[in-house]
Amino acid sequence: MTTKPEDDKLPKHIAIIMDGNGRWATEKGLPRTEGHKAGAENVRVILEHAKERGIKYVTLYAFSSENWKRPKEEVKVLLDLFRKYMKEDVAELQKKKVRISFIGDRTRFPEDMQERMNEVERETADYNDFHVILALSYGARDDMIAAIKRIAMDVMDRQCMISNINEQVVNDALSTHGIPYPDLVIRTSGEQRLSNFLLWEIAYAELYFTPIYWPDFNEQDLDIAIEAFGRRNRRFGAV
Ligand code: IPE
Ligand code: IPE
Ligand code: MG
Repeated sequence: MTTKPEDDKLPKHIAIIMDGNGRWATEKGLPRTEGHKAGAENVRVILEHAKERGIKYVTLYAFSSENWKRPKEEVKVLLDLFRKYMKEDVAELQKKKVRISFIGDRTRFPEDMQERMNEVERETADYNDFHVILALSYGARDDMIAAIKRIAMDVMDRQCMISNINEQVVNDALSTHGIPYPDLVIRTSGEQRLSNFLLWEIAYAELYFTPIYWPDFNEQDLDIAIEAFGRRNRRFGAV
């Protein structure tokens, strides 16, 4: 067996499906929304640690395009939490020169939140040590549909020839353009599915599932996931 070079052992981009907030709360006899609050607090801890470990990109699945179907009250609490998170925690990240981007359909959020998202992206666009991508109202299929429409428009406008459509053209049309593909996907809470997260971008990512609920997933658990990644034999189809 060949040993991997050191820098190959560390993922460059970790994408996390932060699942299990509701069950975490329910098992404690608390309302589900308490789980969301605890989950939001955990984001700070995990981002700090990922940065310390030298990870360059972290994408966090915070709210899916399907999550709008949840009870109105739960959606309202989540929106309030995102608003608070963007005001307080994101401001802290900005101070630490963290680049922040949002993927997902932001037009579904109230105007003030959309403005804040645009502002944060603009203000942090030049930072390049550590990049956090927040997936809010995100669905990979919706993102791919939007990309297909963009490419189709370019073909109609004769900006692009059908014969020139390739992986790079598709990458450029997705909301994740400019961001390297994730090499490690972590899903907490024991579910072993992707729930419409990234899809195209994670075609060759290593998948790591843990039964731990997101609010309990701590720095040590992230280290364990990173170590597991380091032991994987990454293959991309070739021998
Ligand atoms: C993840 O936790 C957070 C969001 C999807 C917003 P859940 O709310 O899905 O928690 P479970 O899966 O019901 O425990
Ligand atoms: C996926 O979790 C979305 C987020 C963690 C934001 P869900 O709890 O919504 O996914 P399903 O319904 O279990 O597939
Ligand atoms: Mg869930």
